[in-house]
Amino acid sequence: MDNFTYCTPTRYLFGRGVELQAGAELKAIGIDNVLVCTGMGSVVRSGLLQRVLATLDAEGIVYTVLSGIEPNPTDPKVREGIEICRAGNIGGLLAVGGGSVIDTAKAIAAGVPYDGDFWDFWAGKAVVTHALPVGVVLTIPAAGSEGSGNSVITLLDGLHKISLRTDYALRPKFALLNPELTFTLPPEQTAAGIADMMAHIFERYFSPTADVQITDRVAEGVLMAIIEEAPKVMADPCDYQARANIMWSGTLAHNGICGTGRREDWVSHFMEHEISAVYGVTHGAGLAVVFPAFMTFMARRAPAKGALLARRVFGVVNADDSEAALEGIERLKAFFSSLGLPVTFRGLGIENPDIPLLVSKLHENKGDEIGGYYRLRAPQTAEIYRLAL
Ligand code: NZQ
Ligand code: ZN
Repeated sequence: MDNFTYCTPTRYLFGRGVELQAGAELKAIGIDNVLVCTGMGSVVRSGLLQRVLATLDAEGIVYTVLSGIEPNPTDPKVREGIEICRAGNIGGLLAVGGGSVIDTAKAIAAGVPYDGDFWDFWAGKAVVTHALPVGVVLTIPAAGSEGSGNSVITLLDGLHKISLRTDYALRPKFALLNPELTFTLPPEQTAAGIADMMAHIFERYFSPTADVQITDRVAEGVLMAIIEEAPKVMADPCDYQARANIMWSGTLAHNGICGTGRREDWVSHFMEHEISAVYGVTHGAGLAVVFPAFMTFMARRAPAKGALLARRVFGVVNADDSEAALEGIERLKAFFSSLGLPVTFRGLGIENPDIPLLVSKLHENKGDEIGGYYRLRAPQTAEIYRLAL
């Protein structure tokens, strides 16, 4: 096990009705003038936004609403939000939505106190040292942004989709998690969210670090719970207990606990970000396509972790590592398919992906050699994309 520091400073409030704490939570951290960020309308249609705004009124908190944040969010909304905050002397942000809304709120939070262009942080030219505080009302368990220090934004000029990682600066101050708010999710978003949270665990599980029994077992436990609960939420979107288990899994998958004491991988996320940047697909659906391809590549080159996953999580009985890993991948694909997820580019609706373009953007954004589990250069990443055809 490697040395590590683990600190997840987000305050989580979980359960029915917790969104009604939004005003009190903001007040408790000293915010009296807030920018409320929302997506394309689901929170208006469900009545959630009105309920949340009423709690701000009750606490005497002044607010401005920034709506219209699209999935796979882009830089113009961030710039718009930064201008609104500066003009209105706004001291904090409240994201009401999913990863796209939360990530935009985080990017605005980083950009407001910074003298230069906010993209400097994503381009690696500057480091976020301070940011406005961000609170979250989560509506979809998927990206895990409610507990992560990350923010993923696409720069429209060149379609660069980049994940900025911070240890603490961009972790939300609080996250309000009411499973009932996820009852309205369309099935394809529920399923994509499940694939995304599983992928966040896989990225940490595929690690070269030895002797991390405790972290492996935590990861396996969360994966097994997801696999058990997923069919229940697909069958009955209003099954509170199943929704609750899936919601908390999404947070645990990405708040760092499944990565403690080891090097992480993240190649599949980098590869998917290129697909969603160029083709605009849902992130979790893209991961359901990339991960089996990545695992197939690894089953032939470095099968140890794939074999462990197959045996412990998917119940594969096979003494040969490579064969066990391949059997596990078949079970994973069958599981994704049972949720209605695609497992190939064609299933994603991309008949002829431009693999040379994806590979060149990937290495332009992430460097010539990538991956924590197994080092990959352009010929290998191209092979993984081809395995997803
Ligand atoms: O925009 P609205 O109308 O709200 O609709 C959204 C959107 O269409 C809808 N939705 C959300 N909650 C709903 C709902 N519809 C009905 N009822 C509800 N309760 O779902 C759609 C997807 O929303 P989005 O916010 O895009 O989902 P998700 O949480 O999957 O976020 C995806 C984004 O997060 C990034 C992804 O790359 C992608 O850009 N990620 C962020 C990470 C992070 N910050 O740590 C890590 C992840 O790996 C990921 O890369
Ligand atoms: Zn993800």
